[in-house]
Amino acid sequence: MNILAIGDIVGDSGTDMFLDHIDELKEKYKIDFCVVNGENACSNNGITRKKAEMLLSAGADVITLGNHSFRQKEAVHLLLNNECVVRPINYPEGTPGRGFTVVQKNGKKIAVINALGRIYLDYCDCPFKETLKAVESLKADIILVDFHAEATSEKISMGYYLDGKVTAVFGTHTHVQTADSRVLPKGTGYITDLGMTGPYYSCLGVKKDITITRFLSCIPQRFEFADGPSQLNGAVFCVDDETNRTKEVIPVAIWPNAR
Ligand SMILES: [Fe+2]
Ligand SMILES: [Fe+2]
Repeated sequence: MNILAIGDIVGDSGTDMFLDHIDELKEKYKIDFCVVNGENACSNNGITRKKAEMLLSAGADVITLGNHSFRQKEAVHLLLNNECVVRPINYPEGTPGRGFTVVQKNGKKIAVINALGRIYLDYCDCPFKETLKAVESLKADIILVDFHAEATSEKISMGYYLDGKVTAVFGTHTHVQTADSRVLPKGTGYITDLGMTGPYYSCLGVKKDITITRFLSCIPQRFEFADGPSQLNGAVFCVDDETNRTKEVIPVAIWPNAR
């Protein structure tokens, strides 16, 4: 079984990039299952029902979120009513929505867990303990973990913490793809960050002039997503059908015709 994980979809251009390329990626890599991080799918971050439905009907099986999960008001309704959309599992008790979901696909029960890091991010419960608790309670053939976090050390530690217990751990949130995809010693596929699907000439999706101005002054700036061509980032996890362990991780990156 081959699983495609796509890094943070940023705005309309990132959504269009996914819609334009998902069919060819599914064909090229013989993809059976697709997870997409959609926490920045709307123009001012977060996700709406309309955006979620666009991504799901185009070919995503599950959408994960992150620190922008509740940026859009209607996300609460979406998370309560759509089992294919998950928010971080380590949000405080009582937070609407689910931290994992289980989907039946091609004869396998596939669980997707979303967790949020604690370094430079919102205060939340321990991602390690909450994720492990879910892993141990889940009855699934394949478990995938989207660890939405800033610090590489926190993400790499999560990879080793779950090595052999889950099929794959992939990071999201930094919007920059890391060159460290690998299979960990006990068979868990890993990459520190999948990268971003969104505006190429940008700072993490945001107009570069805005972020430069922010760094040159102490005045907060209103962020806007950049225009122009888009990139697509993600990774393919090739999974052994007998053991449900990852055999190979293939980073995926489609760039515009950049100069
Ligand atoms: Fe993001
Ligand atoms: Fe994020």
